[in-house]
Amino acid sequence: MLQSTQQSRHAPIDPGVMPLYRARIARGEIISDPAQAAAAERLQDLWAKLKGYNPHPAKPPNGWVGRLLHRKQVDELEDHPNGLYLVGDVGRGKSMLMDLFFEAADVPRKKRIHFHEFMQNTHKRFHQIKRDNPNISDPIPPLADMIAGEAALLCFDEFQVHDIVDAMILGRLFEALFARLVVVVATSNTTPDDLYKGKPGRDAFLPFINLLKKHLDVLVLDSKRDYRRERIHGLKAWYVPANRQADAALDHVFNELTAGHEPHESSLTISGRKLIVPHTAAGCARFDFAALCGVPLGPGDYLALATHYPVLLIDGVPRLSPDNFDEARRFVTLIDALYEHRVKLYASAAAMPDDLYRSGEGAKIFERTASRLEEMQSEEYLALQHLT
Ligand SMILES: Nc1ncnc2c1ncn2[C@@H]1O[C@H](COP(=O)(O)OP(=O)(O)OP(=O)(O)O)[C@@H](O)[C@H]1O
Ligand SMILES: [Mg+2]
Repeated sequence: MLQSTQQSRHAPIDPGVMPLYRARIARGEIISDPAQAAAAERLQDLWAKLKGYNPHPAKPPNGWVGRLLHRKQVDELEDHPNGLYLVGDVGRGKSMLMDLFFEAADVPRKKRIHFHEFMQNTHKRFHQIKRDNPNISDPIPPLADMIAGEAALLCFDEFQVHDIVDAMILGRLFEALFARLVVVVATSNTTPDDLYKGKPGRDAFLPFINLLKKHLDVLVLDSKRDYRRERIHGLKAWYVPANRQADAALDHVFNELTAGHEPHESSLTISGRKLIVPHTAAGCARFDFAALCGVPLGPGDYLALATHYPVLLIDGVPRLSPDNFDEARRFVTLIDALYEHRVKLYASAAAMPDDLYRSGEGAKIFERTASRLEEMQSEEYLALQHLT
């Protein structure tokens, strides 16, 4: 038995989404699920259509012959495949499937990015273009050229629109991206028809919804199980003291919640600065306390982490006191951001939350943090949906 598992671990896997999906089942990392298998088939179809997809650079060349030729190439490509919009409740495996698709995609220019981060980059570039070209009437075309130049396949995790500024830019930007033959695959908890619902200026947003539905097929992942919840169930959240056993316990939590995905280093860009995320996979991030609260990070950094990662692991939360007040203050800000965004927290610590902050200045403020930390270990809290 062991041998056959090991063989499948090392056996070469055929290219494509379905072979990768089946291999993960064979390795025991995920269990077979009919709704996921159906979604994987659809992703496999798109995978096949996109094999080697490399539309020519977006910008029309200069000169009428070049432009004519370009127009002809674009026309030939005009029925480029629709992307996919993978929607469903939390923990159904949308991100897991999109990651398989992304890994398998045989597309030279491809990019997978959290949608929130994409929008942040987009605003930054939009203003940069305006700053560098004060006379420009419309920064969208050069912005779309840039994005399409980097990726002919864009995979967005957690597609969501909360913000009027995003809502205003999205329609024109996506129109320009689709015109540049960019294919989009996205995961979301919200169907296109419900995006930005009940928000000011919704009417002006409706053409964007129609555009999305024209270029992306909506695929509902109605799996019966919330796999994240099942994986969380039975995992203790707070490990005391922060010794080697606690280390090993957090290793186990990380492996469980990432279903064996290989961890890697990543980074978030916040107001032009990079925050290194040393250890991440499948929506989980792991930090040492010192790297999170022992360096001058602020609310913006913690907010970015909280919106980006549904699960956070922290190694080695020390006892806090007026002597390490800066660390304590940052920890309070961090926990507020995590709590408000329903991030699931796992930590090793010198003490249980109530005993973390002994006395003195700031002890009062810490009472709320301790109470939140207690609540964050409850079944009810762990069942809440992450707010992005
Ligand atoms: N068939 C499966 N068997 C076991 N674990 C699974 C299965 N499908 C997904 N998982 C695991 O369940 C967890 C949640 O999956 P995933 O993050 O893909 O859900 P999601 O649909 O993207 O959720 P959300 O809407 O909250 O982003 C992950 O750890 C994932 O690896
Ligand atoms: Mg997800």
